[in-house]
Amino acid sequence: MRRIAVVPGSFDPVTLGHLDVIERAAGLFDELHVLVVHNPDKSALLPISQRVSLLQLAIKDAGLPDNITVASWSMGLLVDYCLEVGASVLVKGIRSQVDVAYETPMAIVNRNLASVETVFLLPNPANAHVSSSLVRQVAALGGDITPYVPRVVAEFLQKAPV
Ligand code: PNS
Repeated sequence: MRRIAVVPGSFDPVTLGHLDVIERAAGLFDELHVLVVHNPDKSALLPISQRVSLLQLAIKDAGLPDNITVASWSMGLLVDYCLEVGASVLVKGIRSQVDVAYETPMAIVNRNLASVETVFLLPNPANAHVSSSLVRQVAALGGDITPYVPRVVAEFLQKAPV
């Protein structure tokens, strides 16, 4: 049986922390779907289609394995996407206790809804402070985001400042 997993998130924009988790997850599963989902609790910087393009470029540029697919989902529950593609596992990166508190209820609800399990990965400590919200803030105020995001994202945001 093929082991299929989904790494969901806002990816607004994708950071080096995300890329690290994606690379680790790709090594653990036969097929990995990186799924861009709108989070109504966050004000968006980039349109969903742009986030998908930047993820695809960043994954290619980093030479990550070819078992990774990037997609977006706006048709309902995250677990509906999992059922559609035959994924039984969600993968999330955990940087701190704050992430544990945020992710735990979602993991339990997703398991109750569709028996989809959540696996938490510990990212490289070098990325423990990196978040998309921090990147959005630094970019909006004209700061240097190159230490936190893939090259393609830094180039894109420099060309099209937000
Ligand atoms: O990167 P984020 O913003 O922390 O990702 C959160 C996201 C998009 C994964 C989360 O909001 C989500 O799972 N949304 C899908 C809607 C859903 O299925 N909700 C019910 C179960 S939590």
